[in-house]
Amino acid sequence: MLDKIQEVIDEISVTKVISKEDLENFRLKYISRKGVLNDLFEQFKAVANEQKRAVGQELNKLKNITEQRFKEFSDALENASEENTGLGLDLTLPVVPNFSGTVHPLTLTRQRVLEVFARMGFNHEDGPEVETDWYNFTALNFPENHPAREMQDTFFVEKKAVQKDDVLLRTHTSNVQVRLMERKKPPIRSIMIGRVYRNEAISARAHCQFHQIEGLYVDKNVSFKDLKDTLYHFAKEMFGKDTKIRLRPSYFPFTEPSAEIDVSCFICGGKGCNICKHSGWVEIAGSGMVDPNVLANSGIDPEEYTGFAFGMGVERITMLRYGINDLRLFFENDVRFLRQFEGA
Ligand code: DAH
Repeated sequence: MLDKIQEVIDEISVTKVISKEDLENFRLKYISRKGVLNDLFEQFKAVANEQKRAVGQELNKLKNITEQRFKEFSDALENASEENTGLGLDLTLPVVPNFSGTVHPLTLTRQRVLEVFARMGFNHEDGPEVETDWYNFTALNFPENHPAREMQDTFFVEKKAVQKDDVLLRTHTSNVQVRLMERKKPPIRSIMIGRVYRNEAISARAHCQFHQIEGLYVDKNVSFKDLKDTLYHFAKEMFGKDTKIRLRPSYFPFTEPSAEIDVSCFICGGKGCNICKHSGWVEIAGSGMVDPNVLANSGIDPEEYTGFAFGMGVERITMLRYGINDLRLFFENDVRFLRQFEGA
């Protein structure tokens, strides 16, 4: 009988209870009227007198252990339900890392740009990605069949009888300028950000889809100086207060005069490095005074109003900000890349 008692003690010591159901089974098996304990006490009656003392001691020990275990189990279950944790948990085990998502670096740039321009009174406007030739090219002063259209290799959706009706994927965000001016009377001060498409081979430096930021300011007496001041302020906010800007003459069909905007290289401070190709300057935007033809095409009187516009690549700005050297990374969604922007 001593063996039997020891067996039960061993069994109880390895028993696990992790639910109310387990606890009830434990009670039924060991403590209830038909349980193991009662059964052993029954058998105890038949134990020979000279063994009664030794067996009785062991039996009482078993009884205490059983009752103590029962109490421990029911207390633990109660606490667990209060704290809403499971039992049978080893709180010292290392946890499986649970990463929260990160904001995409392009979104970080987009947010920052919108914030900087919002403080200068620019609102945020949107326009369609599937566009007609009129808004993407013709209204922006690209003459029909003019070679300037080839500056932007286009994905066509549908060719129509008349070129300006062709349906295409917009090659730049400048289409929204026209739509905006059609819809609103000046003063207009807006930033437009969105995806654009070009039929280009994918490489570290080019992609068939990317994002642009477009700015437009139309009012009475808007001058080239306003353009310069606005972009200078933007450059300082975006790349640091010591940033300088430089304007180089350029050509865009929709602006006259046009200028390319460079900022002093914020990596080397203008001394010359790989990023700025040892020139001390990096190009960030195209810009200019809105061509009077574009104002007229959009229903705004060029005699009364003038405006400036600019356009830049979100990927380019983001690559410069974070020292990223491959455009493809933005679209592959490799978490090893994206996680580096945690908390950025
Ligand atoms: N749309 C031009 C491009 O995709 C960028 C640009 C240049 C936009 C000058 C403008 C601008 O608004 O004034 O290359």
